[in-house]
Amino acid sequence: MCGIVGYFGKREASSLLVEGLSKLEYRGYDSAGVAILNEGKLEVVKCKGRLANLEDKLQQKPVIGNMGIGHTRWATHGAPSDVNSHPHTNKKGTVSVVHNGIIENYISLREWLISKGYEFVSETDTEVIPNLVDYYYEGDLLKAVIKATEKMEGSYAIGVLTTHEPDKLVAVRHESPLVVGLGEEENFIASDIPAVLNQTRNVYLLEDKEFVVITKDGVKLYNRLEEEINKEVFHVTWDADAAEKGGYEHFMIKEIHEQPKAIKDTMASRIALGQPINLDDIHITKEQIKNLNKIYIVACGTAYHAGVVGKYVIEKLARIPVEIDIASEFKYRDPIIDENTLMIVISQSGETADTMSALRLAKYKGARVIAVTNVVGSSASREADDVLYTWAGPEIAVASTKAYVTQLIAMYIIALFFSQEKETLTSEEIENIKEEMLRLPEKAEEVLKYKETIQKFTTKTSKHKDMFFLGRGLDYAVAMEGSLKLKEISYIHSEAYAAGELKHGPIALIEEGTIVITMATQEELYDKMVSNIKEVSARGAKVYAFAQEGHTEIEKSVNSASYIPRVMDLLAPVIAIIPLQLFSYYMAIEKGCDVDKPRNLAKSVTVE
Ligand code: G6P
Repeated sequence: MCGIVGYFGKREASSLLVEGLSKLEYRGYDSAGVAILNEGKLEVVKCKGRLANLEDKLQQKPVIGNMGIGHTRWATHGAPSDVNSHPHTNKKGTVSVVHNGIIENYISLREWLISKGYEFVSETDTEVIPNLVDYYYEGDLLKAVIKATEKMEGSYAIGVLTTHEPDKLVAVRHESPLVVGLGEEENFIASDIPAVLNQTRNVYLLEDKEFVVITKDGVKLYNRLEEEINKEVFHVTWDADAAEKGGYEHFMIKEIHEQPKAIKDTMASRIALGQPINLDDIHITKEQIKNLNKIYIVACGTAYHAGVVGKYVIEKLARIPVEIDIASEFKYRDPIIDENTLMIVISQSGETADTMSALRLAKYKGARVIAVTNVVGSSASREADDVLYTWAGPEIAVASTKAYVTQLIAMYIIALFFSQEKETLTSEEIENIKEEMLRLPEKAEEVLKYKETIQKFTTKTSKHKDMFFLGRGLDYAVAMEGSLKLKEISYIHSEAYAAGELKHGPIALIEEGTIVITMATQEELYDKMVSNIKEVSARGAKVYAFAQEGHTEIEKSVNSASYIPRVMDLLAPVIAIIPLQLFSYYMAIEKGCDVDKPRNLAKSVTVE
């Protein structure tokens, strides 16, 4: 789980590599490093910690050369340390490699290489790669890399340099993302597009086991049989500025403010009054929808919470049974899948390893798969049968906000589409929901105006070490996501519970002064929720409530209440999550935490 970059051209490689890595830090930031080839000499600079440490080192001792590879790491095998940082090099110092992924059979490869006289210095799985390449090297780097990858099991995107061929950079991907940036007399490799976007808008999106060779003559692509292949150039149209902070202090708060637009963009061209739901990127037929016996929604983290809402709305509107699963659990419980099963995977990045394995298993067992993803050209978008892009734009903060609300919108769109095709709702009912959906961007804008109230509330509660989030129905799904946000960025221990379940055990934890945040946005469940609020208040909890405007009577039962604009119950999660995102954000600021890069986390986890 890491980010890789590579450069060959006329400019100094090291600053370009560091710039590319700065866009990939969301993939991990335990350590960073570069390897530069200059006149046949390989120089590696790497160190533990954030990219800034590497920059300091490079400033003190600049490395000259116009060919290089770079890496930002999220540790899997071996603790974050200088020696475990990438690039990794063979003992002779002739081959250097950066790697994103995991070599699953590295122990046996390492033993085998040791038996051939190779020596290892790190605890990483990656270190077998430069040694394997060295073992197979007979004067042609591409051939050696192909042979090495034949031995490697697992996932990888790698960039490889050798002192024997100082004018060649070879790279390949297998189940880890990799793009090639095509410049003027210079070319790049990177784990994703934003890392090359300041340099070029033309890229190749590599498929599994496609090899790229960059020389001074340009870029050539090969398959594993060493046959040259042709590929279409993908022209990136989105704005590089979209990936910058644009005046906000953190990416997270910028992305929270971008939600009204993200919601609007995700609905655009799909939902219009008086028109059928238009999903030209989903090709499932009416007949196939009618024959569906079950839908699995599978995802991780925040995307999983969007799936919880998805289950609720698809079952309610389209009357198809839906199971929601955590991707890392799905594969190992032998799920019942056949050709009438539909899987919906939700993944902001479209690269999450757990989600991708679930997708592959479902496809293998004959199910149709729809991917809901934010990244064009991501693995999920390419491997699924149908894709529904969430148009949130690049999301940089590790804690997901705008991608989550667009995933909710995707769930509503899919639910409405199925209801339309199955005729489980009248066209009047569908129009009514659509009308309310089209007002969501405006309502999201309205909630953002209350951010100072939320900030004050945060100051009052920031000393607490534990918190509870309670909700019923869709509010429970929102409570789960609110609780996750708080944990992720402010490191406060919090639990989300279905409000009715609290009395069956967790209520034992409530004592004088315990903070309980209650969601009461569901009209249908409002009275029941108020009863649950009373249960915790009676045991000394300090209760904060979020309700729909007009429910001021809730103030009699709680210590403090905030309101969201009136919205149809079904759509309330889209609006109700926003104050909770702001709450976590201000809490993290109050506690001096690194909002955009919380400890131990990575934006996209490409290991199982
Ligand atoms: C990581 C991130 C989470 C994210 C999850 C799923 O754990 O830290 O914020 O929700 O991955 O990511 P995906 O890209 O599949 O939505």
